[in-house]
Amino acid sequence: VYLSYDRPIAAQPLAFHTSTVNSSLERPVGFGVIGVGLMGEFHAANLARRVDGAQLVGLADPQPGLAEAAAGRFGARLWTRDYQDLLSNPDVEAVVIAAPAHHHASTVVAAAQAGKAIFCEKPLANTLADADRAIEAVTHAGVPFQIGFQRRFDAGFRGARALVDTGKLGEIQLLRSLTRDPLLDEPERVTAGAIFLETLIHDFDVLRFLAGGAEPVEVYAHADALILPDWRSRGLLDTAAVMLRYTNGALATADASFQAVYGYDVRAEVFGTLGMANVGDVVGPSLVHHSRAGMTRSRPHWFIDVFREAYVAELVHFAAFVRGNAEADNTVGDARAALVLALAAARSVQTRRPVQVSDVTG
Ligand SMILES: NC(=O)c1ccc[n+]([C@@H]2O[C@H](COP(=O)([O-])OP(=O)(O)OC[C@H]3O[C@@H](n4cnc5c(N)ncnc54)[C@H](O)[C@@H]3O)[C@@H](O)[C@H]2O)c1
Repeated sequence: VYLSYDRPIAAQPLAFHTSTVNSSLERPVGFGVIGVGLMGEFHAANLARRVDGAQLVGLADPQPGLAEAAAGRFGARLWTRDYQDLLSNPDVEAVVIAAPAHHHASTVVAAAQAGKAIFCEKPLANTLADADRAIEAVTHAGVPFQIGFQRRFDAGFRGARALVDTGKLGEIQLLRSLTRDPLLDEPERVTAGAIFLETLIHDFDVLRFLAGGAEPVEVYAHADALILPDWRSRGLLDTAAVMLRYTNGALATADASFQAVYGYDVRAEVFGTLGMANVGDVVGPSLVHHSRAGMTRSRPHWFIDVFREAYVAELVHFAAFVRGNAEADNTVGDARAALVLALAAARSVQTRRPVQVSDVTG
């Protein structure tokens, strides 16, 4: 064995950096965070400590004590169990929605009607009807909107996109993207269709981001309960493989697993007539332990270890966008297109046939 991977920097408490990211914004954007679970807490910490163009004003979560405790930790002056209190506060100019997915569409509608700029975690909704309701509200109110596809703000993914955009890879013919979570230890918390709507939706977005403008037209998916077969009857699919075909004939694959024993794994590849780019061979700290058994190097365990900087960068961009200092990125159109692919994949598993994207968009 020449190289083996140690069990990683195992589930450690979130270690928040205290450095800030420079931006040229004069007046910080006042933020409210809706939903203070894993993701909401991380976004709140970034808004309070690392996103220079932002000020964390308040937090909302229906669970007693949660918003208050986070407000204390991050120095926010408002906390509430009802997010309407944030929406009615003029100091809250923008919201980060990090509640569970089935709340996203209605929260987006309420925030848009209150005139707030909206950063919404993925997915925009669990159904196309809900997504379109949210998009209609955002469009009607004319408020800034950004969806939380943070891979687009990761330096590696951005670099691959630059190679595509500058023609360095030639005509794009093949793409691939994969996501593997480290541990499926709470199956009861996994919602139906999550492997497509919550996990592979990132990969579907990447497969659009790196395709040089081509759009998928056909989706063929298989999914099963290979990690926890006993949960198959309860509708939990933990492993999936998907094939996509694009307008220009390009082909792509995406796959996902809810349990990779070696830790969190995200990779992508884009292959064209002039070359290939791959992203995601992440390693941990530069420490390598050499012994009789070989070399051991730690690797990231969880998604925050991999995308820590991308989560900051997406909010820096959003704050700049709210102030009119940056272009829209991760738009409602991107949110909807990835959702359509996720829904097409779920339908393909049910029907055991390829699904035309146009059949899902209606
Ligand atoms: N971009 C990413 O990489 C990434 C990673 C993880 C999670 N997410 C997304 O973030 C969202 C939240 O995921 P999580 O893992 O933090 O979930 P979580 O269960 O840890 O937290 C959700 C929180 O929302 C609260 N909540 C429930 N209903 C609410 C409501 N109506 N208003 C306000 N708060 C409400 C819950 O009490 C809970 O504290 C999901 O959409 C998920 O897909 C994105």
